[in-house]
Amino acid sequence: MINPTMMKELEATIAKLSARGKGILAADESTATITKRFNAVGIESTEDTRRAYREMLLTTPKINEFIAGVILFEETLNQKTSDGTLFPQALDKLGILPGIKVDKGLVILPNTLDEQVTQGLDGLAERLAEYRTKGARFAKWRAVYAISENTPSMLAIKANAEVLARYAALCQANGIVPMVEPEVLIDGNHTIERCAEVSERVLNAVFRALNRHKVRLELMVLKPSMVISGKTCAIKANAEQVGRMTVTILKRTVPSAVPTINFLSGGQSCEEATANLQAMNALAPLPWNLSFSYARALQDYPMKIWRGDKNNVAAAQKSFYDRAKLNSLASLGKYSASMEKETSIA
Ligand code: 13P
Repeated sequence: MINPTMMKELEATIAKLSARGKGILAADESTATITKRFNAVGIESTEDTRRAYREMLLTTPKINEFIAGVILFEETLNQKTSDGTLFPQALDKLGILPGIKVDKGLVILPNTLDEQVTQGLDGLAERLAEYRTKGARFAKWRAVYAISENTPSMLAIKANAEVLARYAALCQANGIVPMVEPEVLIDGNHTIERCAEVSERVLNAVFRALNRHKVRLELMVLKPSMVISGKTCAIKANAEQVGRMTVTILKRTVPSAVPTINFLSGGQSCEEATANLQAMNALAPLPWNLSFSYARALQDYPMKIWRGDKNNVAAAQKSFYDRAKLNSLASLGKYSASMEKETSIA
């Protein structure tokens, strides 16, 4: 049972996260991942450069017009902006909800072809209670599924679904809205049809498990991958096909009780991720809010512009603002590719 105080809080949180025209920034890269991204553009990764980078993003003027929530990594939850304000409080002042990545990464699932399952359930209730006192109002847990001729296996699909559902139920019991992230990876030469078939099996298993664990679908965010061609597929589906097939698979698998679906970008270019979101929303009316929860497709340009230099903060913030605005328009079905030229994106 969810107690009435927690219930009120969950309802207030989901109402904010599903606001039309707004999305979520994923800024929760683990230290290893952000270090890899920094190194790729020549930024040194230290506790303070990571702090300064995230301060640049989160203090972008008027970003709360387009961003309803930000997913943080635990390190950032405990860091402060230059004026001494803890990040969750700084976000709160802007009316942006702080979220937190709570999974502990991937491990090999024995008796599969080296498929992975996500770990982090042990002690999760205690961690959630602590994160909540620090201001977190929603949480994220990512499961991954690699497509090959023989994967994902039913074993990996079921194991990950069970863990995602246990995580989601624990979040709700602790007054935290769960963001359930099953990511079908883009890597490989598979066709969009194969991605559709896998995505349908994955989402069916996830929702069966969520039902088994009595997760309140009205109080969760789904963060799926789009139905797209594999990165090295010879025939690449266009935005219109991606939009149509993604919406078809979601309609088959995701109950309309789920208020909002916020996609990950998963290695698409910034422009592709925006155009694909637009193509889905062009099919309105839809049963859910369809928006974004991108990391790379929101951060690629600002990170390259910033490069760890204070003098670049304003230009980096401008490019982040512009990208968030274009994605907000796509979430409303009002984006067109010609708008790319009107922004100052490098
Ligand atoms: P990308 O948008 O870069 O895929 O990241 C989203 C995310 O949160 C992955 O867990």
